[in-house]
Amino acid sequence: MGDPAKPLLRALKGEALEQPPWWLMRQAGRFLPEYRQLRAQARDFVDFCLTPALAAEATLQPVRRFGMDAAILFADILLVPQALGQTVEFGEDGPLLEALAAERGIAGLRPLELGRLEPVYETVRLVRAGLPPQTALIGFAGSPWTVATYMVEGGASRDFRRVKAWAYRDAVGFSALIGLIAEATITYLCGQIAAGAEAVQLFDSWAGVLSEAQFERWVIAPTQRITAALKGRFPLVPIIGFPRGAGALYTHYASQSGVDAIGLDTAVPLGFARELQRRIVVQGNLDPVALLVGGAALEDAAVRLRRALAGGPFVFNLGHGVLPQTPPENVAVLARLLAEPLDRA
Ligand code: CP3
Repeated sequence: MGDPAKPLLRALKGEALEQPPWWLMRQAGRFLPEYRQLRAQARDFVDFCLTPALAAEATLQPVRRFGMDAAILFADILLVPQALGQTVEFGEDGPLLEALAAERGIAGLRPLELGRLEPVYETVRLVRAGLPPQTALIGFAGSPWTVATYMVEGGASRDFRRVKAWAYRDAVGFSALIGLIAEATITYLCGQIAAGAEAVQLFDSWAGVLSEAQFERWVIAPTQRITAALKGRFPLVPIIGFPRGAGALYTHYASQSGVDAIGLDTAVPLGFARELQRRIVVQGNLDPVALLVGGAALEDAAVRLRRALAGGPFVFNLGHGVLPQTPPENVAVLARLLAEPLDRA
């Protein structure tokens, strides 16, 4: 159970804090030299994620350096397909999976192998023991739709042709895949929470490529299933949903998905964000490129964001992950900016 006095948890419960809590998606990773050094100690990326001592250290590195209000568990959304029996590798150009074929459906997958995910829970326990008392620990998983895109496309995709074609041609078969991922995600997130995660985020990085009807079926419905199950077991643990790129459908996601807070991507206009904020906690949405550029671009964007959203329940974050080319000094500058009162910032 999370300590309700932690700033991140207060904001996620709906409190407007004078200094909004902050963390950054992908705050652990290649932009930090200490991460690259640690990463070199593991055979491959999956091994790295599944070695608790290394993953816990990677989780703690950014918090130690910059003092964010939250740590995000170091792991990956593609550990779930791996625990379902799919081959997952990380090459120079991103993840490579042995793609599922629509004709075979979920026949090639196995029931969730619980032991495969056990090391992640151990990482959570190690991180909780190593965090400063005011810092919260966020667990996470990919949303079923986003995880399915990787499982069916075999990696990153430009047009999502294979996965969308499966969903259109055989909605029943595709729904079996989405259901399988949803159930695995519930088990996985409950395991993280039981081990000590104090909030969880669902990354739906590819929510923005679907039509309204497909969004309803493959984003809203499985997200509801997950939020209902988590709330049934852990009613006090806040859930953040990040339906990246959802555009006008953000409103629908905010009211229907069952999440407590909503992650805004960089393209969400601040006036629209303020409307959303009347009903739900908002998180976001600084452009990761403004952070990479630094200087006046970073300062202006950060001040504008705080002026727009810091009057209500708000968690300061990026609109997508930290880019690997980001100078660490820019994150230090951002930390200092956010520690200043707004009128002097
Ligand atoms: O700091 C954190 O945010 C925690 C760790 C984290 C990672 N991946 C580590 C990682 C989190 C929250 C993720 C989420 C994730 N993984 C998403 C959703 C967020 C998003 O970016 O849209 C997605 C789509 C993935 C799948 C994935 N993993 C891709 C597409 C890639 C390759 C591209 C890339 O950024 O490198 C990964 C690899 C990955 N996941 C790395 C890290 C630190 C880089 C691997 C390395 O160190 O060699």
